[in-house]
Amino acid sequence: MIAVNLQYALKGVLQTLNTNMSLFVNRFPDNTTVGNRYHLRLAQNGFAAGDNYGWTTGFWSGMLWIAYELTGNENYRQLGEQHIQDFTHRAENAIDLDTHDIGFLYTLACVAPFRLIQNTKAKYAALLAAELLMNRYLGTAGVFQAWGTLDDLRLRGSTIIDSLMNMPLLYWAAEQTGDHRFATAAHRHSVQLRDHVVRSDNSTYHTFYWDVETGTPVGGKTAQGHSDNSCWARGQAWAIYGFALNYRYTRDESLLAVAQRCANYFLNHLSQDYVPYWDLVFGDGSGQPRDSSAAAIAVCGLLEIARWLPEGAQRQHYQTAAETILASLVTHYAAPAESGSNTLLLHSVYDLPKNIGVDEGCLWGDYFYMEALIRSLIPNWQVYW
Ligand code: GLY
Repeated sequence: MIAVNLQYALKGVLQTLNTNMSLFVNRFPDNTTVGNRYHLRLAQNGFAAGDNYGWTTGFWSGMLWIAYELTGNENYRQLGEQHIQDFTHRAENAIDLDTHDIGFLYTLACVAPFRLIQNTKAKYAALLAAELLMNRYLGTAGVFQAWGTLDDLRLRGSTIIDSLMNMPLLYWAAEQTGDHRFATAAHRHSVQLRDHVVRSDNSTYHTFYWDVETGTPVGGKTAQGHSDNSCWARGQAWAIYGFALNYRYTRDESLLAVAQRCANYFLNHLSQDYVPYWDLVFGDGSGQPRDSSAAAIAVCGLLEIARWLPEGAQRQHYQTAAETILASLVTHYAAPAESGSNTLLLHSVYDLPKNIGVDEGCLWGDYFYMEALIRSLIPNWQVYW
């Protein structure tokens, strides 16, 4: 394994974050870079440039909270607190929240500051968000609908592997309110995904559809992967981390076991430098772009798995795999200061079939890179999820 200086990597990360704070002030950067530079979130669908819409703005908040934890610098906290106002307004008015991504948004923008500084406004907004997510629960099928309103016939019964990451908001809401509804639905959803979205070879479908009247599983499709039957790299990374987090809150051993099986598939399909191509159907020599964001998510997931395994060879295996991938990210993918880029990690892919954010930086890649660093620097770090 390459020896890397994580403190040095962190120094570069904080420099870029500071530059981006001056650039965006209280507005939000776009999902991905263009030419390796972030610009303001686009003005579209009635939103002004830099408005809080879409699924990725919480990653920007999450980066601020990690930076605050690591440095104690009040500038990060102040901007993070402004984000709480913004996210409260968004939840109160249900702005662009017809999506399972509510968990990504509110866990990082609101649960994180509640955990860190007991901000009660953040708690209020996160509980509102958890209720909005609960509205998307389709009881007969036992799953959360991924996208669209519940009466949208095209999207009815859609689920997505990414949604496992949104369940921790519900476990947190159950803890805070004592209302088991949240946790029961989240657990059932993760079990449904375990049973139907993970294939027999431990790869995953990206999306999967249910008949919401009968609860019958219908079948899997891709949205951002190479084909319906291939394994989209980031989806597999969401599965690793998502199942492991669902284990954290339920202690259902089958969820830790499926996280391990998904991790094994992922680790067996890495490229020579331990960062996967954007779909795991591709290997070295394919000429396809890599997805560094999938690698960063997987590092956090592998560390989460290792956290819950007993001392021994298995635990060490996942720990070493995480360290090896992170070392490659630090060495080969972290944007060097002289690159002129304002992303933390180069070379991710958002949606190759639609040619969006291909070989660019992205907010979630940058967030999980920071989470991988803080997890490695502070081994008993209290997760935001
Ligand atoms: N959750 C959407 C994505 O990973 O692109």
